[in-house]
Amino acid sequence: MPANKKSGCCGLGRRFYAGPKLVIMVAHPDDVQHVLVTSKMVERDPLTTTAMRSFVGDGLLTLNGSRWKTHRKLINPTFHSELLGNFLEAFHEGSLFLSELLARDSAGGAAPADVHAAAFSGAMRSFCSAAIGVDPDRLIPDVPKHELSAVMRRIIVLLQTMMVRPWRRSLSLLRLSSEGRAILKYYAHLRKCVEEAVAIRSAATEEGPAKTRRRLLETLVKPGGQTALPVSEVQDELMTMTVTATDTTAVLMSYALALLALHPEWQDAAHRELKDIFGEGGDYLRAASLAELASLRVLESIIKETLRLFPVVPMLPRMVREEIWLSKGRVLVPKGAMLFVSPFLTHRLPQFFPDPLKFDPSRFLEGRSGEEHPCSYLPFGLGSRNCVGSQYARLEVKVFLATVLRRFRFLPHSRWEDLENSVLSITLHTFKPIEVYCVPLQESGL
Ligand code: HEM
Repeated sequence: MPANKKSGCCGLGRRFYAGPKLVIMVAHPDDVQHVLVTSKMVERDPLTTTAMRSFVGDGLLTLNGSRWKTHRKLINPTFHSELLGNFLEAFHEGSLFLSELLARDSAGGAAPADVHAAAFSGAMRSFCSAAIGVDPDRLIPDVPKHELSAVMRRIIVLLQTMMVRPWRRSLSLLRLSSEGRAILKYYAHLRKCVEEAVAIRSAATEEGPAKTRRRLLETLVKPGGQTALPVSEVQDELMTMTVTATDTTAVLMSYALALLALHPEWQDAAHRELKDIFGEGGDYLRAASLAELASLRVLESIIKETLRLFPVVPMLPRMVREEIWLSKGRVLVPKGAMLFVSPFLTHRLPQFFPDPLKFDPSRFLEGRSGEEHPCSYLPFGLGSRNCVGSQYARLEVKVFLATVLRRFRFLPHSRWEDLENSVLSITLHTFKPIEVYCVPLQESGL
């Protein structure tokens, strides 16, 4: 669904049919609160999960009920805030990889660089080290970087098609087109990586020192190969987490850099803040500590405002098991319908975010904007089915931005209209890849 057609929503539910299924969009924070928090509606609708299951199998994204609870209980602690410090080195390494790709693709600022492709590779490397604990060079298939990100984008489009056209769900049919074969090749690569990671961990003979919290793979597989879940579910969960951890970061980085390129005043503010924190001496480009990252308030506001305008996960699907009243009792949603809670629409309601289409990070500088309502801002979802990787994602993106902003001046190639011309799918995507010019700072003297 093209995003910009819906920007002026008043906050009441809108409805449409996806085949025989009644779908109601939820935007007003009162209704968001009722659906996600009060009524504890935690089940994703089969219309969305069946299509996703073809690729990621049985993991957090697709499971419901007691199996979802079991997986969630196991995985929650592996992304706990106490572990964030352990992830820093992996994020820094990923951010250096991202910088190298941007530098190479933009040829000293002469050509526009595709941010998603570069950030996707950086995020993939970080995830291998941080969550899987295996050297990325051992795991990541030798596939051209742009191919990885392009196929990921095609998978998102395909999943959307599969949701509304069930006859497109057959993987045998997919093999008939060259695009389908490219997707299946990539899928096979990912599956192989995951199997390899499980094999590496199983081959370990002893557990490391006792820790209260372990990484994702360490939690799911013990040395010797004993697993916390059936092996197929461990592999599915690793597929799920790899896909969710990489595309989301790449999408957020794409919108953030494009917005900074289009708003040089905010890019300058971020540069000033980075100079304040990292000084201007020889170690300006050093890896950031947790304390330094926590003090980057301008950068934090830029990330929040980017997520307000372009929430990476723009719609949260929920299955209606029991009829529910929305819009202060004016809309009865029948059992069997699907609700799409839409952060995209909520974040653009003018009563909570005045002048909603303006990119204005200062909304978040002086306390949270939209504060009048606790459910007016939900880039990572709300309630028990919220994003399991939200703290990981926030910190990773901050490290990525703090690294690239100290190396480049970003100039616009994608225009505001290109960003607004986004598709509301599983993750938000523009029709054309988001591109920016990356001018090395030392050379430009900026
Ligand atoms: C900018 C980055 C990200 C954003 C904006 C984001 C947003 C979200 C949102 C809104 C949800 C809730 C969906 C719903 O209620 O139906 C979600 C779920 C999820 N996210 Fe994220 N996410 C991000 C990054 C990540 C990362 C880095 C990981 C993994 C490390 C991750 C793993 C997941 C998983 C597994 C779920 C499903 C949770 C469940 O159903 O129990 N996400 N994400």
